[in-house]
Amino acid sequence: MSGILIENIGQLIQVRQDPQKTGKSYCAGQEMDGLPVINNAWLYIREGLIDGFGPMETYPYREDIPVGTKIIDATGRCVFPSFCDCHTHIVFSGSREQEFSDKIRGLTYREIAARGGGILNSASLLQNTPEDELYRQTMERAKELIRFGTGAVEIKSGYGLTVEDEMKMLRVVRRIAEETPLTVKATFLGAHAVPEKYKGRQSEYVDLIVEKMIPQVAQENLAQYVDVFCETGFFTVADTERILTAALKHGLRPKVHANQMDFSGGVQTGVAYGAITVDHLEHTGPEEWDLLAGSDTMPVLLPGSTFYLDMDYAPAREMISRGLPIALASNYNPGSCPAGNLQFMMLLACLKMKMTPAEAVNAVTLNGAHAMDLSFNLGSIAVGKIGNVFITRPIPSYEYFIYAFTSPLVETTILNGKITEL
Ligand code: NIG
Repeated sequence: MSGILIENIGQLIQVRQDPQKTGKSYCAGQEMDGLPVINNAWLYIREGLIDGFGPMETYPYREDIPVGTKIIDATGRCVFPSFCDCHTHIVFSGSREQEFSDKIRGLTYREIAARGGGILNSASLLQNTPEDELYRQTMERAKELIRFGTGAVEIKSGYGLTVEDEMKMLRVVRRIAEETPLTVKATFLGAHAVPEKYKGRQSEYVDLIVEKMIPQVAQENLAQYVDVFCETGFFTVADTERILTAALKHGLRPKVHANQMDFSGGVQTGVAYGAITVDHLEHTGPEEWDLLAGSDTMPVLLPGSTFYLDMDYAPAREMISRGLPIALASNYNPGSCPAGNLQFMMLLACLKMKMTPAEAVNAVTLNGAHAMDLSFNLGSIAVGKIGNVFITRPIPSYEYFIYAFTSPLVETTILNGKITEL
């Protein structure tokens, strides 16, 4: 099969007329509310790449359809570029629904963590899970993401917390990259929590991360990024600086879990170290926004965990009004967001953070791609980009995709120019 030709598309979403994939690779501030759409469109994907698109009046293939082309009639449907989910923790073992009950009874995320629940609970489950079984569980989640319309994903370690178990997680990430059509970026997050045996000796665990884990990750080429949970009760600014210094020394780009529970200094540290993203940002104000505005660091908001932890949402409107870009991600993980559906995350972004549907779509496509260094290839419909799209069931508009937030609206997924069979 040499190509896929999609005709009569009700709405072709996120078309960027940049034939050579040039032009700005993300949108910020007021631009975020501009979502380029072609009504009644066609799209041709050939040999894995987007070859052409346009309104049906310009359809060039009425008589002359290339041999071997699969034709799909998308009447009444939307075609989106596949979503780019730039923050997940999908390598985990088992689940933590008992903490769900604790939470309902009134315990906070921090209190659950302090009692040995939370991340440490997942770490002990993962340490006792063989690598193949961990891969099997992760593969189920990866397929779930594909069904939701995701085509590119960042996946973190951080439930291993020993040298061997962190490497085990990252090898699983590598297998997911090899065995699925997803485009995958891997992040080493050894600094996700301080293991029980290092309690009271936190700096020794940071030594282990800096001296053993990061060098091994780099040597085995297991990740592109290094992340730190910079938060009271987890890792300090000084710990974060040591870890990010080691990351840079080994050619790995920083990321930071920043300002989720408090004004942690994580944004300042991330920006100072040239982080590709700072993520969460529920607790930010003018100081953090101004710093971000003068940087190349993408703010990533994770409304699924804010919802699940019942906290105040990140101030998206303030950030956009100051000209900042925003990426949205699922934060799929067993503790603060056991969900990976970006349709739902966009709904939360719109209802709870007052982002417009256009802003939300930009945040999970173009900006999500930029947040993984992938916007040269993914995140929009542009000639030469990878043929990653999905076709919806019949729906009146892209806004409907967010509005009808529990309806399974993804009908056909195409990744790397091929229809995915799951
Ligand atoms: O991004 N905040 C830190 N990490 C995850 C939660 C992980 C967990 O509770 O297992 C998050 O929310």
